Amino acid sequence: MIVAGNWKMNLNINEAIELSNGLLKHNEVFVEEKIIIFPSFLIIPEIYNLFKNSKISIGTQDCSMYDNGAFTGQVSAEMIKDAGCKYVIIGHSERRSLCHETSSIVSQKAVKAVSAGLKVIICIGENSKDREKGDYLFVLEDQLKQSLSDLSNDNNLLSNNIIIAYEPVWAIGTGNTASKKDIEEVHKFIKEIISSNYQFNYDLPILYGGSVNSKNSSEIFKINNVDGVLVGGASLKSDEFLKIIKNSM
Ligand code: 13P
Repeated sequence: MIVAGNWKMNLNINEAIELSNGLLKHNEVFVEEKIIIFPSFLIIPEIYNLFKNSKISIGTQDCSMYDNGAFTGQVSAEMIKDAGCKYVIIGHSERRSLCHETSSIVSQKAVKAVSAGLKVIICIGENSKDREKGDYLFVLEDQLKQSLSDLSNDNNLLSNNIIIAYEPVWAIGTGNTASKKDIEEVHKFIKEIISSNYQFNYDLPILYGGSVNSKNSSEIFKINNVDGVLVGGASLKSDEFLKIIKNSM
């Protein structure tokens, strides 16, 4: 199981160091490549130094769709790799809604990230209106296919580098975790789309995200086709996040 912590725009340097040290105390029991932390860009160097000899990997919460040049405020995939990161989250719903990121942009960013040698967590998720209307599976299929569109022409880009995170927008930060039935249905659906449309040469992991915590994570890990979780709020406290990691083992 993968347990990824998306710190979003939280934690100053001291808070982040304290939290990281709390996690590092348990490094021995962790499994390599299964715990990934996504700090804000600014504190990546500090967190990289703390985690570089540990089993915890780090990544960023976004990357640019461009290589370099006049793109004020953006950070390229090459820079992220150069800073010691192994992963990047692309297409989080907060970026899709707040920064107007389309699936086409997500796809272009994913190509840059994978080409730079990063592993990519591509997020998809329907909002509450899509769910109420009942057409959420169409929305998810469209997001998934468009977000992979620039990758699917190149088998090398599909190799071992993509993870999908299903994060229903209505479940993020609300305490309304999706039900077992909802998660099972969507994860199965994603697996089917992947296996019938793409030639991934590995069993592409699918994470669930949306109000995951230490209390509900054990049940979520037992659901078919759940390969891990992407955690927001509950990754900001070391005890809480450690309990989720423990539940994943
Ligand atoms: P919460 O766990 O706070 O609901 O956030 C989920 C998320 O957006 C992770 O990327």
